[in-house]
Amino acid sequence: MSKAFETLAARDAASICHTYARYPLAVAHGRGSRLYDLDGNEYIDLLSGIAVTSLGHAHPEIVETMAEQAARLTHTCNLLYHAEGPALAEKLLATCYAGKVFFANSGAEANEGAIKLARRYMRTIKEREAYEIVTLQGSFHGRTLATLTATGQDKIKDGFAPLPEGFVTVPFNDPDALAAAVTDRTAAVMVEMVQGEIGVRPLSEEFVAALEELRRKHGFLLIVDEVQTGLCRTGKFWAHQHYGITPDIFTAAKPLANGLPMGAVLMCEEAARGFAPGSHGTTFGGGPLLCAVAAKVLDIMQRDHLAQRAAELGLYLGGLLEELRQDMPDKVAEIRGLGLMIGVELAVPGKPVWEELLKRGFIVNLVGERVLRLLPPLIIEQQDLELFALALGAILRKA
Ligand SMILES: Cc1ncc(COP(=O)(O)O)c(C=O)c1O
Repeated sequence: MSKAFETLAARDAASICHTYARYPLAVAHGRGSRLYDLDGNEYIDLLSGIAVTSLGHAHPEIVETMAEQAARLTHTCNLLYHAEGPALAEKLLATCYAGKVFFANSGAEANEGAIKLARRYMRTIKEREAYEIVTLQGSFHGRTLATLTATGQDKIKDGFAPLPEGFVTVPFNDPDALAAAVTDRTAAVMVEMVQGEIGVRPLSEEFVAALEELRRKHGFLLIVDEVQTGLCRTGKFWAHQHYGITPDIFTAAKPLANGLPMGAVLMCEEAARGFAPGSHGTTFGGGPLLCAVAAKVLDIMQRDHLAQRAAELGLYLGGLLEELRQDMPDKVAEIRGLGLMIGVELAVPGKPVWEELLKRGFIVNLVGERVLRLLPPLIIEQQDLELFALALGAILRKA
């Protein structure tokens, strides 16, 4: 490790409250699908800041939009109108059947807003004492108190009791467990179509069919957390579109403004009745700078057919990885995912493989002990994916 890295890491350790297990890498700048460290070494970014920089780093049109808008108007607060707000909302709503959007600052905050909306809709519109939110084991919904309670992973909740009431977690992809958990008190069932943080696990068609049946029977709302899966990542604009369902509420965040902090709660017109002036709010959410950048992100995604590109590149990379699995079934257990959201479950310990990939200039994420999670920018070139598969193959052959 270089002197420059060690000095920076020491300053970081001395001054920043440590809640992250950081990688031994300090980034100085980036361009497209490449990142460069303090010593000028180049890396292929297969993480995209955890599914955020879908358009890559320093995208020239995003840089230009950011600079132009910053020079005109950055913040107004939500007491004032600005044209950038509805311009973005209209573009977002044109990608789906939702009727309204609320702008938040992050994924957790968007999910918190979705939970609040479901509860308030049940109380004020349906006049029902239905407040429970049912979620799935292995899910990840954020780090606020409500969203970490909704999250189906005990380690995320450790030390934070007492947790808010009214959350129930059921086993993943288990229709019977869901049927047993849903009652008249259920305000909403909240799911990710593909769970990311636990190692890239898609919901089964069978589970989604059972969920839809229960939704019709009990009248709860369906919330889909599309914070990681949304905006072209899985090969469709929204991951729920793979399953042909129409959630009442769904959330977006990570790639929405390609790295500026922004979230969104999208809702059908009926669910939108649950919020009224004064019932929810945020100072920064939906400011003109964020909206202008996000609108440009959506324009580029559509113009450059990035959903289709994610689907095609996902198939290509999935195929290369599947070949590795067939060559080395003792090293690779399973390839899972949708589009450019791919999990490689190893049959050998993941840490040495992940470390060797980083040494060879490939940034990927290791979730748990054995799953390499791949979330490359949607603009990545096919040959970079090939270089990655070659490197992974070479490392696994020696593992
Ligand atoms: C599915 C999902 N929901 C919610 C969140 C929380 O988003 P944020 O970190 O922006 O609060 C994440 C972040 O990883 C996520 O992957």
